[in-house]
Amino acid sequence: MVLINENYLKLTESYLFSDIKKKVTAYQEQHPEARIISLGIGDVTRPIVPAIIEAMHKAVDEMGHAETFRGYGPEQGYRFLQDRIIEHDYRSRGVELDADEIFVGDGAKSDLGNIGDILSVKNRVAVTDPVYPVYVDTNVMAGRAGELAGDGEHWSQIVYLPCTAENNFVPALPTERPDIIYLCYPNNPTGTALSKEELQKWVDYALENESLILFDAAYEAFIHDENIPHSIYEMKGAKQVAIEFRSFSKTAGFTGLRCGYTVVPKELKLYNAAGEKVGVNRLWNRRQTTKFNGTSYIVQRAAEAAYSQLGTQQIKESIEYYMRNARLLKESLQRIGLQIFGGDNAPYIWVKTPNGLSSWKFFDRLLHECHIVGTPGVGFGPSGEGYFRLTAFGRYEDTVEAISRIQEWKL
Ligand code: MLT
Repeated sequence: MVLINENYLKLTESYLFSDIKKKVTAYQEQHPEARIISLGIGDVTRPIVPAIIEAMHKAVDEMGHAETFRGYGPEQGYRFLQDRIIEHDYRSRGVELDADEIFVGDGAKSDLGNIGDILSVKNRVAVTDPVYPVYVDTNVMAGRAGELAGDGEHWSQIVYLPCTAENNFVPALPTERPDIIYLCYPNNPTGTALSKEELQKWVDYALENESLILFDAAYEAFIHDENIPHSIYEMKGAKQVAIEFRSFSKTAGFTGLRCGYTVVPKELKLYNAAGEKVGVNRLWNRRQTTKFNGTSYIVQRAAEAAYSQLGTQQIKESIEYYMRNARLLKESLQRIGLQIFGGDNAPYIWVKTPNGLSSWKFFDRLLHECHIVGTPGVGFGPSGEGYFRLTAFGRYEDTVEAISRIQEWKL
């Protein structure tokens, strides 16, 4: 008898975005005439910029010649990319890192899920609530989440840190000590951000309580305000307590190409069962060299080009395009009396559903009556109930059209 991992049976039937996709497909089949605008999943719509395409063409050609062909690359990523990352994403902000602290991967989602491999299942996990569902679901799979409560929303072993309009979406420090804390800033899904002072409080908390922070900085490229940190390592002491996850998906339109990286500082030490300190960088390296054969050479050349002068400039234009959508959504929806959060330093708008509508009710009505897809806040966690997420990653014309449909909508 072959036994399965029972933890998988505890999960809801499907991943949030697959669930939404199914609902939208069913609706479209019944209403083929409806022109549905998707402002749901945070997927980019702008094509890859020319500087990156050119670098990829060159890399493809290299693969076709014996002299420049590349087979297996380093599991941690090519040095040419690691060096660019250090120089542009860290040194420019006063953070020094060594190349062997950077692990290039196929996107933040994989590493955020895989990091649990090197952490005991006995660890207590805390998440901000609402939260990117991957953090919770991967801990359910690993057996770290406990049991789902009767309300169908809370896991018994997970510490929830509510982020709502009442606390201005700034989570309070936990009252019961978690071992692992997931933070995502600028935040998905609320589109809000933490100031340097606020993030420093979390680092200080982790230092005092010997907690580990898993910091998802996938949206840092959308930061506009000076006082918002791009990396957790801008905070004093963070290298001792934090692992940072970065992605080219939203920054450079790589949702289909796949590339990201994870920073595991050598200063970060956790404990073995005997209470001795163990370096985490070594463990993650061991995990990656065994289970991962590196991101493709072509994709890493593409990522490298994202840092070239031309690449940086072209990417900036795409980011500005999306942030124009964010501003437009925010200002127009505020004008019609909706309560809106986020959208200043992140490509997400967090809408308070009007008239006390539940998140899913609002989703259904927006789909059926306006033919617009968004993401129900409650899908990201219990404190997301009564909220709704819209993404700024749509095409500009679609965003304008969606706004005009909502403006005419009799709610
Ligand atoms: C989202 O819509 O929250 C994101 O696109 C999901 C992801 O990045 O995997």
